Amino acid sequence: HARLVVLISGSGSNLQAIIDACAAGNIPAEVCAVISNKADAYGLERARNSGIRAEVLDHKAFASRDEYDVALGELIDSFSPDCVVLAGFMRILTPSLVQKFKGKMLNIHPSLLPKYQGLNTHQRALDANDKVHGVSVHFVTEELDGGPVIVQAQVPIENGDTAQTLAQKVHAQEHIIYPLVVKWFSEQRLTMEDNYAVLDNNTLPSQGAD
Ligand code: GAR
Repeated sequence: HARLVVLISGSGSNLQAIIDACAAGNIPAEVCAVISNKADAYGLERARNSGIRAEVLDHKAFASRDEYDVALGELIDSFSPDCVVLAGFMRILTPSLVQKFKGKMLNIHPSLLPKYQGLNTHQRALDANDKVHGVSVHFVTEELDGGPVIVQAQVPIENGDTAQTLAQKVHAQEHIIYPLVVKWFSEQRLTMEDNYAVLDNNTLPSQGAD
């Protein structure tokens, strides 16, 4: 069984999808701990409801990003994870934290990368009159939202869509593709080599900015 540590800042619906997939036996892994930078993140309750350790590491208690990330790295390490899963963790990571978990840290980002790195992705896709939008799961590198993409899912943008309706469509896809990628990683079929994602010894066509 692979050991997963999941980092969140909010609702944790992706966390829930991963917990459920582990419990159903679809992913050969267990979520050892959930860490949030916000004490009121609902995902912490989801963790507790499943008997999973729920830890709060409040960034406001630290003087600098560097100090926070050192503490975060130590807390993550204390659970000896095989994989660190960012699931709506809304903080930029320092290069040394990224380096520490290189090749074993995954992120989900609500856009078709390399489009719309950063925030407000749904509104930006609407403002650009895009006809398709979507979500990407990628390995985390020092490039913000720029690491090699593993899987993307598209959703159509239709008349009347708002940032809220798009977010709902994207979430539905997220709950399918994130457990799938975590499953591949847990089965040791997925690695990062030279800034490329490799699945079953096939180099995936990286969309990530490099
Ligand atoms: C997800 O839509 C995820 O793609 C996004 O936050 C949401 C978390 O939802 N992540 C980012 O924007 C990262 N920059 P959840 O808490 O319900 O899983």
